[in-house]
Amino acid sequence: MAERSVTIECSGNELRYDIRIGGGILERTGRSARRALGPDCCRIVIISNRKVFGLYGKIVETSLREAGFEPSTWLMGDGERYKNMRSLQAALGFMASAGLARTDAVVALGGGVVGDLAGFASSIYLRGVDFIQIPTTLLAMIDSSVGGKTGINTDFGKNTIGAFHQPKGVLIDVRTLSTLPKRELTAGFCEAIKQGAVAGNDLFDQTSQMLERYSAKRRAWQSDRDFQRSISEMIAAHVAFKAEIVSGDQFETVTRKDGRSRKILNFGHTLAHALERATDYKYLKHGEAVGYGILYAAELSKALALMDEKSVNLLYDVVHRAGALPPLDDIDQKVVFEAFRFDKKHIARTLQMVLLKGIGNPVIVSGNDIAQASHSQALNRLFNK
Ligand code: NAD
Ligand code: GLY
Repeated sequence: MAERSVTIECSGNELRYDIRIGGGILERTGRSARRALGPDCCRIVIISNRKVFGLYGKIVETSLREAGFEPSTWLMGDGERYKNMRSLQAALGFMASAGLARTDAVVALGGGVVGDLAGFASSIYLRGVDFIQIPTTLLAMIDSSVGGKTGINTDFGKNTIGAFHQPKGVLIDVRTLSTLPKRELTAGFCEAIKQGAVAGNDLFDQTSQMLERYSAKRRAWQSDRDFQRSISEMIAAHVAFKAEIVSGDQFETVTRKDGRSRKILNFGHTLAHALERATDYKYLKHGEAVGYGILYAAELSKALALMDEKSVNLLYDVVHRAGALPPLDDIDQKVVFEAFRFDKKHIARTLQMVLLKGIGNPVIVSGNDIAQASHSQALNRLFNK
């Protein structure tokens, strides 16, 4: 399968790295890492979890050794609830005991949880060491591995401690998706729909067509070359879009409110983070919560007369095509509202929300401009009340 490459470049900053996408990329990890990290890098700490390392760790480790690195591995717990201070501390302790120096590096092998935590550990260890992202979930491939947002969850909210720390490279081997559980694919597709919805018709249509063509075939995808080619193309298109937005607004400028500010990538995330927090990060996959968040934002957009019924229905249709989302019946709406208070998208005491005037036309709206009744109505619709 042909390898694709997207380069991310942020103007005004000395920042440039390649995102490689294709099949068989893992076998070439060592060579790619050497190119990205330079000749002085000697030790590498691979951060992963038991499940992902069991599947792909040896390939990565062997390739790194062949390229002259000395790899060692630290495995974190599997799941959102392990993206926390305790795991961070343990990761930093391991990096120190492995003798990682400032010229050395970290490799994050796994989904967004591993990537966010490993990236954050790299950003603060010795005031910052290099790291490489090897995302193994669809969500991490199209979103979290690119753009340098790293962090952990705390008692006071989701991703509330973190740093912008760009990786030195991103290696996306689409073959790792062959072992990804179906539910995780659904979660990844929800994040893809979010990205398509703010990007424009091309990316949105490419994503929804992918869902249309392959929903029934997902389990057979391993042997399906056409699927691998299409999903690589889709991932490359998402990465290119994300790279463009990040290049223009690397640090998510607080004062920007325009339709190309990095804030637009948070579409669907206000409700998503509240739902995750309200369920203690255990019930919903992040991408599933984003699926609900997209519908919530669509309902609010309709309530503010920004978007018509047809576009709202289209979003419902595409999100449902991604796969079944766990029901919200047992979640207390009051707890969800309470969780909004902990959202880091508050600016000057007001929660900013990304809504849509249509596909590809995001707007940033102050929470003060949205009536409480509209919030309640939108939530009731999702909770089937
Ligand atoms: P995840 O990292 O929890 O991975 C999902 C599950 O899939 C885990 O059980 C994992 O072990 C398993 N897995 C991973 N790769 C696999 C493979 N190839 N085969 C089989 N199993 C595999 O979840 P996620 O959806 O990848 O990431 C969600 C996280 O990403 C959240 O914490 C979210 O906040 C974060 N995120 C960050 C950004 C960012 O810009 N930094 C953007 C979006 C999401
Ligand atoms: N996932 C949102 C961002 O990277 O800005």
